[in-house]
Amino acid sequence: MSAGFVTPAHLHFVRNHGAVPRVDEGTLRTWTIRVHGLVQRGTTFTLHDLKSMFQTVTLPVTLVCAGNRRKEQNVVRKSLGFNWGAAGVSTALWTGVYLADVLDYVRPLKGQAKHVIFEGGDSLPNGPYGTSQRLSWAANKEKGMLLAWAMNGLPLEPDHGFPIRVIIPGQIGGRSVKWLKSIEISAQESQHHLHFWDNKFLPRHLSPDAARDEPSWWQDPKYLITELNVNSAISHPAHLETLEISREPKDPSRMYTLRGYAYSGGGRRVSRVEVSLDEGATWQLSTVNYPEDQYRDMAYADEVYGTLDLTERDTSFCWCFWSLDVPVSALAKANVIEACAVDESMNMQPRDMYLNATSMMNNCLFRVAILKKETERNLQLTFEHPTVAGTASGGWMERLKPTGMDLTRPSFSDPPLVPNVVAPLEGSTSLTNPDVTRRISPGEFVGQDKQHPWFVVRGEVYDGTPFLKEHPGGADSILLVAGEDATDDFLAIHSEDARAKLAKFHIGTLSGLLPTAEAVSDHAHDTPDRAAPFLEPKRWKSVKLVEVTRVNHDSFTYRFALEDEDQTLGLPVGQHVFVRLKQKDSGTVVQRAYTPVSRRDSVGSIEFLIKLYMPNEKYLSGGKMSAALGKLVVGDEVELKGPLGSFIWEGDGHILYRGMRLRRREIGVICAGSGITPIIQVLRAILRDSSDTSTRVWMIYANRTEEDILLRDELDAFHREGHQRFTIHHTLSNPSTEWKGGSLGRINESMVREYLPSPSKEGLILACGPEEMMNLTVRPALKMCGWDVEGQLVIF
Ligand code: MTE
Repeated sequence: MSAGFVTPAHLHFVRNHGAVPRVDEGTLRTWTIRVHGLVQRGTTFTLHDLKSMFQTVTLPVTLVCAGNRRKEQNVVRKSLGFNWGAAGVSTALWTGVYLADVLDYVRPLKGQAKHVIFEGGDSLPNGPYGTSQRLSWAANKEKGMLLAWAMNGLPLEPDHGFPIRVIIPGQIGGRSVKWLKSIEISAQESQHHLHFWDNKFLPRHLSPDAARDEPSWWQDPKYLITELNVNSAISHPAHLETLEISREPKDPSRMYTLRGYAYSGGGRRVSRVEVSLDEGATWQLSTVNYPEDQYRDMAYADEVYGTLDLTERDTSFCWCFWSLDVPVSALAKANVIEACAVDESMNMQPRDMYLNATSMMNNCLFRVAILKKETERNLQLTFEHPTVAGTASGGWMERLKPTGMDLTRPSFSDPPLVPNVVAPLEGSTSLTNPDVTRRISPGEFVGQDKQHPWFVVRGEVYDGTPFLKEHPGGADSILLVAGEDATDDFLAIHSEDARAKLAKFHIGTLSGLLPTAEAVSDHAHDTPDRAAPFLEPKRWKSVKLVEVTRVNHDSFTYRFALEDEDQTLGLPVGQHVFVRLKQKDSGTVVQRAYTPVSRRDSVGSIEFLIKLYMPNEKYLSGGKMSAALGKLVVGDEVELKGPLGSFIWEGDGHILYRGMRLRRREIGVICAGSGITPIIQVLRAILRDSSDTSTRVWMIYANRTEEDILLRDELDAFHREGHQRFTIHHTLSNPSTEWKGGSLGRINESMVREYLPSPSKEGLILACGPEEMMNLTVRPALKMCGWDVEGQLVIF
C-alpha cells in the first residue's frame, strides 16, 4: 500500500507451482511461441516477430491470486491451500501485444474453435502449467488480454514469467500463464492437470477431504474460477497499530483516516466502499480513489511502453484505494471496523464467509478488531487484523477461535471480546494436566515464596520446585521467573520434548490478570545506572543495530550498540542472552537465546554471529528468528535480557554447573555449525588465560561445507598458539572434492574415540548443536566411549 498504485516488481506477489525455468541467452534466442490447433494460419512466433508484427501496448493491470485472503478460511478449517493474507494482490504496467491481434492473424476456424489454451515452459510433476480461455473472450480486445514481455517498463523478472507471459485482466492470477510456450486453439478447454485440479470454487457442503477424493467436482466446468469477485481490505490501521487517546478529550475533533484497497473482476468498477463501526447497524461511504482513471485522460506512446491508451476504455482492471476520516472518539467506542465494497453490477462482499474446500475467493467483510486498554490517563486502542500473512501466527481469528466463536459469522459485541484468551499452540503437546482444577488468584500467585517458584505459562500456574535440580538450564532460570508470566521465555526456548514435561508441574489456573512486568520494572529503572553492566536478568532492554557484516553465504555478524559506549555487557563466560524482536511484516514477537561472540572485555556494543536459516523445501518459512533478523536494517532495535544458562566457566578449570562447583582440566568439545558461538567464549577464556597452563581442550567441529566453518581464523590461531593445549578436528558432511582438512561425514563414535579425550574424573564434554544430533549421535557415542552422559556432558 505504501508503494502506491503500481507495485514495484520486487514487491509484486509471486505464485509459482514449481521451479522457475532457467532462461539464459541461448534459450532466449530460440524462445518461440507456437500458435496452433484449429486455425487457418498456424504460426510459430519469436519474441521479435511479436514485437515487429503487432502493435505494442501497455495496460495497467492488477493481478490477484484466487487465494488472496485465504488464510482467514484456513484458520476456520484447514483447506486445500496454503496461507495467503490479504496481500496476494499487486498492480503493474504490463507491456506486450494484444492476444486478440495474434488470434486475428492466425484466424481461428469459425464454428469449431471455442477455446484458447495456454501452456507454460515450467516443468511440474504432472506436466506443464496450462489453462484456457473462451475464444470469444480472448478475441475481444476490450478484455485486454496480453502476451506481455515487460513489467513496469523492464523485461519480466524470471519469477514473473521471463521472457513472455499471458496477462488476463479482471480474472484470477492463475489464468495468466507465465513462461508462455504454446497457444492452442481448440474445441475443448485445457486438459492440463492444474486447469482441473486448481482454481476451483467448490460448493460449500464439500469438505476438503471429500473434494480431494472426488475428481468429478474438479472436472465440472461450473466450478472453474475465471473472473475475480468483488473484494476489499483495510490497510490502515495496520495489524497491531496502536492509538493513544486521552480520556479528557482536549481535541474532540481528532480524526483518524481509515484506508484500504478494493477490486472487482471482469472489468467491473468498484462503485463504493462502505465502512461500519457498529457491526453493520450503520454504514458510511468512503472516498474511493481510482488511479487507473488517470490513464484515461490522455494517451501515451513511446518506444518502451508502446501505446498506453485507456481514453476510450471503460473497463476497470485495477485496484482502487478507499479512505474515510473517522473521529478517534468513534473508534474508541467501536469494537470492530468493517469494510464492504460494492461493484457496478451491485455485487457486494458478503457478511459471512463462504467456507469452501480450496478456500479461494474469500471476500467476506474485512474486519479489523479493536482492543482497548485503559491506563490512568489514556485509552489505548490496538488494532488487530483477521490474520497475519504467511505462516506467522496472530490476528483476531486465531485468538478468538478457542472461545468457540463462529469465525465465519463473527460477532464482536455479543459475546464481548475476550482480550486474554490465548491462541492455540503450534504443535500438539498439551501443557496442562486435565485432573488439575484449582483456581489460583493473582494475589496468591504473586505472594508465593520465591524459593518455591511458581510461574505462569499461557494462563496456567506451574510449581517449578521439584524440577530445580534437574532443569538443564539451571535452577536460576526457573527462580528468575518465580511469580511471573514466563510464557514467552518458556515457549521460545523449549522443544516439544521439554514442553511435554511441563504438565507434570501444573498446579492450577490463574483466575485473573497479573500486573504487567513493564509496569513494575519501569518504575524501578527511571534513571539507568550507567556504571552498571548492561544486562539485567528480569528486564528487557533495547539495543540498536549499528552494523551487519557478511561472514559467509548464510552467516552474518550483527553488532548492536549498548546504552552507553563505556558500558560492559555483564555476561559470564558460558552464559547466554535472550534476544527478542518483532517480525516486521506480521508484528509477531520472536525470541531466542543466543551467545554473543563479542569479546568479554569489549565495551559499548554486543555482537552476535548468526546463521540465517532461509526457507527450503523442508522448512518453508525458514527460521522465524532468521526471517525477523534478516529484515533488520541499521538503526532498528531489538531487546535483550540475561544472563541465563546453567554453566559458567569461572577460570583456571573452575566451573559452576547447575549450582555445583567443579574443577575440570580436560575439556572435550563437540559442536556443529553456529553451535560454535557459546563454545568460542569458553575457548577464549581457557586459551587466552595466561595463568591457566594446564587446562586442555580437544574439539570436534562439524559443518556441511568448508565455507560453513565459522570463526576459522580464530580457531586456527588457537591451534597454532595453543602450545599443545588445543586440538581441533573438522568434519564436513558435504565437502568439496579438494577437502583435506579433516574427516568426511557426520560425527560418529569412532571420531569421538579418536579426537576427544578418554573419560576421566578430570574430564567434561561441552556440546552445542541441533537437538537431533545430540540425541541420535552425541549421547550414544559418548556413552559407548565410557562417558557418564548425565554428569559429564554439558549441552548448551
Ligand atoms: N504460470 C506458470 N507457467 N506456472 C505457474 O505456476 N502460477 C499462476 C500464474 N501463472 C503459474 C503461472 C498463478 S496461480 C498466479 S496467481 C500467477 O501466475 C501469479 O503471477 P505472479 O507470480 O507474476 O504474481
